[in-house]
Amino acid sequence: MRILYAAGICLLLSNAATPQTPETAHNPHQRLNFDAGWKFHLGDIPETSESAANVPAAATPAFNDKPWRSLDLPHDWTIEGEFSQNNSTGQQEGGLPAGIGWYRKTFKLPATAKDKVYIDFDGVYRNSTVFLNGQELGKRPNGYISFRYDLTPWLKKGADNVLAVRVDNAAQPNSRWYTGSGIYRHVWLEIQPAASVTIDQWGILASTASLSERQGRLHVATTLRAIQGAQAVTIQQTVYDAEGRQIATGSLPYTVNDTLSTVQQDLVLTGPKAWSPDRPYLYTLETRLMLGPKLIDRQSTRIGLRDFHFDNRQGFLLNDRHLKIKGVCLHHDLGALGAAVNTAGMRRQLLILKEMGCNAIRTSHNPPAPEFLDLCDEMGFLVMDEAFDMWQKKKNKFDYSLDFPQWHRRDLADQVRRDRNHPGVFIWSIGNEIREQFDKSGIELTKELTAIVRANDPTRPVTSAMTEPDTLENNIWQAGVLDVMGLNYHQQIYDEVLQKFPGHPFLATETTSAEETRGHYDMPSDSIRRWPTSAKVPAVGVNRDYTVSAYDNVSAYWGSTHEETWRLAKRNPVVAGLFVWTGFDYLGEPTPYRWPARSSYFGIVDLAGFPKDSYYLYQSEWSSKPVLHLFPHWNWRPGEMVDVWAYYSQASEVELFLNGKSLGVKRKEGDELHVQWRIPFEPGVLKAVSRLRGKTILEEEVHTAGAPARLQLIADRTTLHADGNDLAYVTIRILDANGYLVPNADTQVSVDITGEGTLAGMDNGYQADLESFRGTRHKAFNGLCLAIVRAKKKAGRITLRVSGAGLPPASLDITSL
Ligand code: GAL
Repeated sequence: MRILYAAGICLLLSNAATPQTPETAHNPHQRLNFDAGWKFHLGDIPETSESAANVPAAATPAFNDKPWRSLDLPHDWTIEGEFSQNNSTGQQEGGLPAGIGWYRKTFKLPATAKDKVYIDFDGVYRNSTVFLNGQELGKRPNGYISFRYDLTPWLKKGADNVLAVRVDNAAQPNSRWYTGSGIYRHVWLEIQPAASVTIDQWGILASTASLSERQGRLHVATTLRAIQGAQAVTIQQTVYDAEGRQIATGSLPYTVNDTLSTVQQDLVLTGPKAWSPDRPYLYTLETRLMLGPKLIDRQSTRIGLRDFHFDNRQGFLLNDRHLKIKGVCLHHDLGALGAAVNTAGMRRQLLILKEMGCNAIRTSHNPPAPEFLDLCDEMGFLVMDEAFDMWQKKKNKFDYSLDFPQWHRRDLADQVRRDRNHPGVFIWSIGNEIREQFDKSGIELTKELTAIVRANDPTRPVTSAMTEPDTLENNIWQAGVLDVMGLNYHQQIYDEVLQKFPGHPFLATETTSAEETRGHYDMPSDSIRRWPTSAKVPAVGVNRDYTVSAYDNVSAYWGSTHEETWRLAKRNPVVAGLFVWTGFDYLGEPTPYRWPARSSYFGIVDLAGFPKDSYYLYQSEWSSKPVLHLFPHWNWRPGEMVDVWAYYSQASEVELFLNGKSLGVKRKEGDELHVQWRIPFEPGVLKAVSRLRGKTILEEEVHTAGAPARLQLIADRTTLHADGNDLAYVTIRILDANGYLVPNADTQVSVDITGEGTLAGMDNGYQADLESFRGTRHKAFNGLCLAIVRAKKKAGRITLRVSGAGLPPASLDITSL
């Protein structure tokens, strides 16, 4: 009685304030998370069922999966393995094991016989085959695509059902970077009444038709799917602002005649708030499908209003204002967590990049997880959403080129339809460094793929990340259908792009490929190394400890240092923007080294999420905050000549002091991006002071450190959600007795977690570290180590105790709510 009464009040109150907010209205269409309670077996189960020929035994309800491991998704079995040179993935994919795995989930649904039930997989790497109660529902080779099956025909209402998924990542190599293996993204169950008309999956396309400070016009195209013709429905569109207030609504009666029909509507918003990286304002669009007075389907779409265009002279304009695209490329792995999707992990990456002043991400070279795009919308990142790394011509023996002929149309259309309402997504890339650019077959394929994108999203430009700058030789460009010239590297031609690609906007779709190991410095800092030097001279074993200097003085021959490319892109308005390869180090592709190097050196931030020095170069150039970054560390041999660099911004000069004595004032001259001193080392304190018109802006010190004496723990967050997924990233710093970071400490640390949390992984950011990410012990590297703590589903306190050889233990409490 009391509950009913309370509910009634609640309804009355919310009715009075905002009739039918997204939260209060009944939704016949439910989307349930389906991640919990799976069973997993690593390896194949080759036996077929006794009762049904050709059906794998592990797919049948009768199969005994009790001995299998219990787990919740998302799950990546590859990251759980041990590094080995003998793993079939090889060094390019990170040297961890791949293979075949099976997943099963037993579930009951209430006996609502009229419902339609779908299962949605956000992504399975790769070659998945899905079965329900022994019936094969389908296969999907592409490891990055989202897909759905209709469970309804084989579903037993009110009884046990068994869903089984075989994942086959055995054929190796199939990638140029770490992929992970398994059901590494979320799974959802969608339940809706078996109505004769519904809103089609990914059936809504909401776009900004026009935008001014006074008024915005939202165009909504809704695709309806009917199983029986000639029905009179009404489509209601309502827009709510971020506070849940209804601000626009419109209704359209429509007679459905065909299986698929698309209904066009316009809504006018007064005084709209435009979406931008600086103010990522989001609205919610509610689409309701009515049959008479009855609500038969309903969908909620988060949208942003923004207006943009490319200009071949001015670059990129967002909401009528010039915006340089300051982007980075990202692969999808989360370092020690592998490919298993985690919103807290992705948010941390994006927060670190946001602080740097980055405003755009290229999801190289595949469709990302949906949650990644949600975060980009919320946090203000433009996204170049990329489809493929290869078409018909392979880059690896068992890669997607084998599936391309049969699947590319479906995969590309599904990607575009899934992602087209994200305000952050501003351009589609139909491929990265596709070999068909050198072959006439590239012309027809480019036309076909571009047409697929346009048919599903006529509102955004299409590009491809190409490498051939000679337009006559480049068959993708020759197709004549791309909106934007997308070129990887070749920064030396930025000054000529107007002549080379007349009439077309230009985007540096991939740049730089500088290589660095955090905290390692090779002198002299001002001599630039190309590792490798050329395609013919590989740079193997260049530093015996598999490090690369972090002075921004090393790059691959096809790329440049960070400064070399940014200097050229910065001064040239014709270059709409750039995507630096890469924001974070990723597993695999450890150019310039062979084994035991197993993760990349290209990141501005290392694999553990610790910024390298070049992070502050970008921060000084891209962000609006004053920056002063002084490096390297100050632990050298007495008398050794050391190059000291400072990145700075919002100041006109920097003065350097060693043990209180001035070593002179330096200013960036011309297009310089840092200042440098070359001085003999003497232990003590190095101090930099940045000034503007005589006023001190910032000061920074680096101290000579003594031996490791204690541990310092710093968590990025100390309050977590008790949802089984939320994460705290705890940085473990090795300090000397005076509290200064010991810059070369490789102390072995052990982590013990008690209470309502578990250890999700450990890392130190060193590219040739072969310790498992899953151990409770890990060596620090150059003074730092990382422990990732995962909240359990139960609220409470989490205590982390860290000990390090010979050092007093340290502890930290995290609250999980
Ligand atoms: C590019 C390629 C990237 C990565 C990079 C390394 O050519 O598109 O995927 O391999 O080189 O420098």
